[in-house]
Amino acid sequence: MNPKDLLKKYLEFFTKKGHKTIPSASLIPQNDASVLFNTAGMQPLVPYLLGTKHPSGKRLVNVQKCLRTVDFENIGDNTHHTFFQMLGNWSLGDYFKQEAIEWSFEFLTSKQWLNIPLKMLAVTVYEGDKTVPKDEESFNYWKQLGVPKERIAYFGKDNFWSAGDTGPCGPSSEMFYWSGEGEAPKVFDPHDEKWVEIWNDVFMTYNKDNGGKLTPLKQKNVDTGMGLERTAAVLNGKKSAYETELFQSIIKKIEKLSGSSYKEKIREMRIIADHLRAAVFVLGDENAVTPSNVDRGYILRRLIRRAIRYGKLIGIQDYFSAEIGKVVIKIYGDFYPELEKNQLSILSELEKEEEKFALTLEKGLKIFEKLSAENDMISGADAFLLFQSYGFPLEMTQELALEQDISVDEEGFKEEFEKHQELSRTASAGKFKGGLSENSPETTRLHTATHLLNEALRKVIDPEIKQRGSNITPERLRFDFSFDRKLTADEIKKIETEVNRVIKMALPVRREEMTKEEAIKSGAQMEFGAKYPDKVSVYFVGDYSKEFCGGPHVENTKELVKFKIIKEESSSAGVRRIKAVLED
Ligand code: SER
Repeated sequence: MNPKDLLKKYLEFFTKKGHKTIPSASLIPQNDASVLFNTAGMQPLVPYLLGTKHPSGKRLVNVQKCLRTVDFENIGDNTHHTFFQMLGNWSLGDYFKQEAIEWSFEFLTSKQWLNIPLKMLAVTVYEGDKTVPKDEESFNYWKQLGVPKERIAYFGKDNFWSAGDTGPCGPSSEMFYWSGEGEAPKVFDPHDEKWVEIWNDVFMTYNKDNGGKLTPLKQKNVDTGMGLERTAAVLNGKKSAYETELFQSIIKKIEKLSGSSYKEKIREMRIIADHLRAAVFVLGDENAVTPSNVDRGYILRRLIRRAIRYGKLIGIQDYFSAEIGKVVIKIYGDFYPELEKNQLSILSELEKEEEKFALTLEKGLKIFEKLSAENDMISGADAFLLFQSYGFPLEMTQELALEQDISVDEEGFKEEFEKHQELSRTASAGKFKGGLSENSPETTRLHTATHLLNEALRKVIDPEIKQRGSNITPERLRFDFSFDRKLTADEIKKIETEVNRVIKMALPVRREEMTKEEAIKSGAQMEFGAKYPDKVSVYFVGDYSKEFCGGPHVENTKELVKFKIIKEESSSAGVRRIKAVLED
């Protein structure tokens, strides 16, 4: 089955079951400081899983762009991808285990849908722990549907799902497809890797706090996720998605450019295809970032540079990343129109990054060879030299070292790095390991302050200003907007005074649901380039500001107390960035 048909069928099936299709959110989470990229379909839905009303209702379905960097070293195997698409259906306090399991079963096995023979399938359910009971209910639903009990395994940790250390979570039931040769064993062993996980039904009923304590959520939710890549592969009888239409023409292009064959250079070609596909989606995102040495930009840089090194390894002589980029856009552009829209910038950023790296790669490799021939360990200072002067991400030096069976003094590298600049949050904290949006009182207040700032900029600086991005941590807000010069000290003061004036007016904040058309007509602000569903929620701050937004917000502006801008800087060409705080 063509992966595009799988996607269409999934959306169609759940639409028939009363779900509304919502667009994939940006790959780059907004107002969520805890993760660099969306790692699961549920991530943009956290406020709704916690109880906020979703404008599209209680049953939702979509395909979400996701990016996970924890699996970097696994890329090249059959089942891991940096960028992937997650099909998902949600019940926000509506249906629960029974319907979720019945519909999963129907979609997988019924003739009209995926038509997978039952003998190819197995499932796990949660075995329980001290606080959460064994999920006998789900076990029984699967059994009643005809799954033999030998193919239903009670399982531990993997069957309690949460995106990070805090937030909504719950027991889950996972579905597996037999990918081995010959008939599937009668008795399901969840440790046997030939059983490939294709779908996960999470029964989100708890909220995990900072201390790891679980408290029941206001509502019982269902959050399911089916990896499009994996499922497309197994349904087509392929070992991996690289051998399906999702990747075929990318691999062919790499074969052509390198003169090598996929069979001979399987890992290298998979890494190049995976990384450049991910880079295209990051560069083409509605909240795109460009390669840099911090946070998301650094992940992007690592992806592109690692692909380039592997390209050289398999004999690609010329610049090639933009060539591959074009193929990626061709495959995905019709479903993700942002890629076509941003084609020029995607290709030129790839080219620019490749040019920059090409200048130093050869020289850096020579230095590395010399260092590795003379030492058992690359010192922190040398790793930093490779980073600073030759553009080698630390992880690339570590990978090169591993190939030579030597190590890198990572601590020493970090010390060097700190000496030169504040250690980036990315490098320090393993931030991409997951985590959830945080709706603390601090972020809620800053969220409302962002709306006031957005409006104040238009009122006191320029009515043409548009929001270009936003990011909120418990400590500060960050707001990007279109404007092509530095703000003067006087202007910054004016903006602060304006926001503080509105705070003092003690305006009420209210939320209304309306169709997208009505909201646009009402003049509500929307973020440039962002995609919105047909029904949206709009937040009004008195009569002062109207904005498309999912919340959360304070009830009255007086809760913000005092607004202060701490930094104004350039974000990219034609885009300025303000960082601001609220003082009590
Ligand atoms: N959130 C769950 C997962 O990512 C199900 O969607 O597996």
